[in-house]
Amino acid sequence: APAGVVTIDGPGGAGKGTIARALAERLGWHLLDSGAIYRLLALASLRADVGSSDIDRLVALAEALDIRFPTEGGDAGEVVLDGEVVSDAIRAEACGERASVLAAVPAVRQALLDRQREFRQPPGLVADGRDMGTVVFPDAPVKIFLTASAGERARRRHKQLMEQGVAANLADLLQELRARDERDTQRSVAPLRPAEDAVTIDTTELSVEAVVNAVMERVEARL
Ligand code: C5P
Repeated sequence: APAGVVTIDGPGGAGKGTIARALAERLGWHLLDSGAIYRLLALASLRADVGSSDIDRLVALAEALDIRFPTEGGDAGEVVLDGEVVSDAIRAEACGERASVLAAVPAVRQALLDRQREFRQPPGLVADGRDMGTVVFPDAPVKIFLTASAGERARRRHKQLMEQGVAANLADLLQELRARDERDTQRSVAPLRPAEDAVTIDTTELSVEAVVNAVMERVEARL
């Protein structure tokens, strides 16, 4: 049987990354931050000056991406582009914005599909993103969909960026978040939506620990 997978999908700022990391650590499983792959491609395309309508070159870039984040036990590791650590650079709002534009291109998603599936290795994988439960790992035994109010999600992003020393404006973040939600939910290929068999958790008023515990209960019931 293939290794176990827990999928964690939802809009930006709902807490997916934090929850996925904590969960992977508790379980001792691998971690796939699929958004980091789209962000890495975004950065690569910005640097190589490849436009979002230049599909052939985008696909070539996607296929050439060096995706090898060390992922043991919840350690997301460093993201590298052409030998340079870009873990912080890909978090810039410009990269998220660009990532969501590229993520709407079907050929780009297709080029990244198998590469994401390769992360499914024993003893198991925690995968977070937008389409982990619907497209990449449709047979995952545990699927979680995390939501939170837009205001709360913007506040969390803001806090996260401040902690990284990145200047950000809350009102701008809220606006960008809404634009990104709109694009992620309206796109024709792999739109953001809960899988039919996903459990939705609204994290607006929940602590990280409360959410991790709720997910752990599901995992223990299923595995
Ligand atoms: O989650 P994060 O903000 O890092 O993702 C950046 C963008 O990448 C998202 O707004 C979304 O458009 C895209 N993405 C996606 N599918 C995933 C993960 C991310 O389309 N599985």
